[in-house]
Amino acid sequence: MRVSTGIQGLDQILHGGFLPGRVYLVHGQPGAGKTTFGLHFLAAGTPAREKSLLISLGQTEANIRTDASSVGLNIDGVSILDLTPAAETFSESQSYDIFSPAEVEREPLTQEIAKTIQQKDPKRIFVDGFDHFRRLANDAFQHQRLVQSFFRFATQHGATLLIACDDRESLRDVDGVIELAFGPEGRSISITKFRGSDFRPGVHPMRISGQGIQIPGSAA
Ligand SMILES: Nc1ncnc2c1ncn2[C@@H]1O[C@H](COP(=O)(O)OP(=O)(O)O)[C@@H](O)[C@H]1O
Ligand SMILES: [Mg+2]
Repeated sequence: MRVSTGIQGLDQILHGGFLPGRVYLVHGQPGAGKTTFGLHFLAAGTPAREKSLLISLGQTEANIRTDASSVGLNIDGVSILDLTPAAETFSESQSYDIFSPAEVEREPLTQEIAKTIQQKDPKRIFVDGFDHFRRLANDAFQHQRLVQSFFRFATQHGATLLIACDDRESLRDVDGVIELAFGPEGRSISITKFRGSDFRPGVHPMRISGQGIQIPGSAA
């Protein structure tokens, strides 16, 4: 049994899609297409009546919903936990003079994430802006513990977890890595790690249009 990525060409590259209950990282510079990729993954749950949850640490819910429709994706059935800071946070930021941002934010954020996952019990979870989540830990050891415990928590009821990161340093605990690139020659996608399965290696050209992400030439 595979979990469709929501991108037909990528499912072919991955010999059917993701493995259920695993953790995947989509990595690439800003603008490479990580958020769009995650929206495909979430939207793919709707036809199968699988619940999908987006945890956003970067963009507001309103912007995400607008962007999804600009690439032709229907995410009406997707729950969004918007963890972007409220406007008031800016004028109340004096607490950062006393405590580090990690200390101020860690508990409320992790509690809200845990509560939402428990309530919604999603089969697909996408965490956008995972770099921010990592920064909730003060040192490398604590960071590793936080990330590992989050991965176990999120997948304990069988959910497949996708995280998006600009910086993939010390994210060695994931089961697979999708690398997106955007340069003078255009966009590309490649798989650099895929535990437990074979995949089609190489750098595959990719497009983003009003129909979302397409990987031409990947047909079997
Ligand atoms: N409707 C569209 N048509 C063509 N390109 C689009 C469209 N929507 C988004 N894009 C492209 O996708 C990029 C956004 O990708 P995004 O998923 O937000 O990247 P990331 O999350 O990695 O920063 C935009 O910079 C734009 O180039
Ligand atoms: Mg993004």
